[in-house]
Amino acid sequence: MGNKVTTAIFPVAGMGTRFLPATKSVPKEIMTLVDRPLIQYAIDEARAAGITEFIFVTSRGKGALEDYFDLAPNLEEELRRKGKDDLLKVLEETNMDSGTIAYVRQHKALGLGHAVWCARRLIGDQPFAVILPDDVIAAEKPCLQQMVEAYQETGGNMVAAMEVAPEKTSSYGILDVVSDEGNLLEVKGMVEKPKVEDTPSNLAVIGRYILAPTVLKNLDEMKKGAGGEIQLTDAIAADLDQGRKVHGYRFAGQRFDCGSKSGFLQATVSYGLARAELRDDLAAYLKSIVPSLD
Ligand code: UTP
Repeated sequence: MGNKVTTAIFPVAGMGTRFLPATKSVPKEIMTLVDRPLIQYAIDEARAAGITEFIFVTSRGKGALEDYFDLAPNLEEELRRKGKDDLLKVLEETNMDSGTIAYVRQHKALGLGHAVWCARRLIGDQPFAVILPDDVIAAEKPCLQQMVEAYQETGGNMVAAMEVAPEKTSSYGILDVVSDEGNLLEVKGMVEKPKVEDTPSNLAVIGRYILAPTVLKNLDEMKKGAGGEIQLTDAIAADLDQGRKVHGYRFAGQRFDCGSKSGFLQATVSYGLARAELRDDLAAYLKSIVPSLD
């Protein structure tokens, strides 16, 4: 097995209940950060990392997501007619080549591990990436690209890792590491949503993975884990138990949890401030309200 990573799985079958009522009809991944849907940030990050095959694990009610990746010939024609070349370019940048996207259904939301397993028949004997679009990572070099580069040396399995506050460890997959130094962490154990008092560290797994196909084999067992869900963390931990390597990669960048309302709002402010055309207005507004925030 080589170390080249060209396929990414995007599990987008979750119900997004934290954003109800919006998610009654709008898939969470289509919700916009400034002016781009979350999924576009994920796709751009994947492309920057050299991904050429995109697999979406979807569910009922995600039609808007499939439509988003279709061409928009009428819109393009209208923009062309009006001479709006800049907007035309924005649209064209989102076009995907025919045959590079595959959609697989997860019929029941049985957990992230199960969602990834649903794509098993589209994965051969090469390593593949998994990207959770609700983890948005602002970074000079996109997070998955950092990982793909590190992966050329390590092979095995790799997960994005980040320190979280000790009291937050019960919301994440947590790494048990041989040594907590440097960017590349050798993992000796992993546990999904440990009790705060039992956590092996405060190094949390964030939604970027590079996995060996053996992890999909482990998922065949359909073992239920934390919260009664089939957990990806457990299947990676099983690979470790079977003697294969897992590395945590402490990425450079800022991660926003856009699966939560607070994280989404923070990302909106941060990405808004990062846009030259919005910065002055937004900064002036923020400064004007800060004194009244206590
Ligand atoms: P979350 O834990 O954020 O769940 O899933 P969710 O359903 O999207 O959101 P809430 O908690 O109800 O608000 C993390 C990622 O795993 C995917 C989700 O789509 C999201 O990208 N996922 C989760 C699946 O694809 N299938 C599942 O069964 C569970």
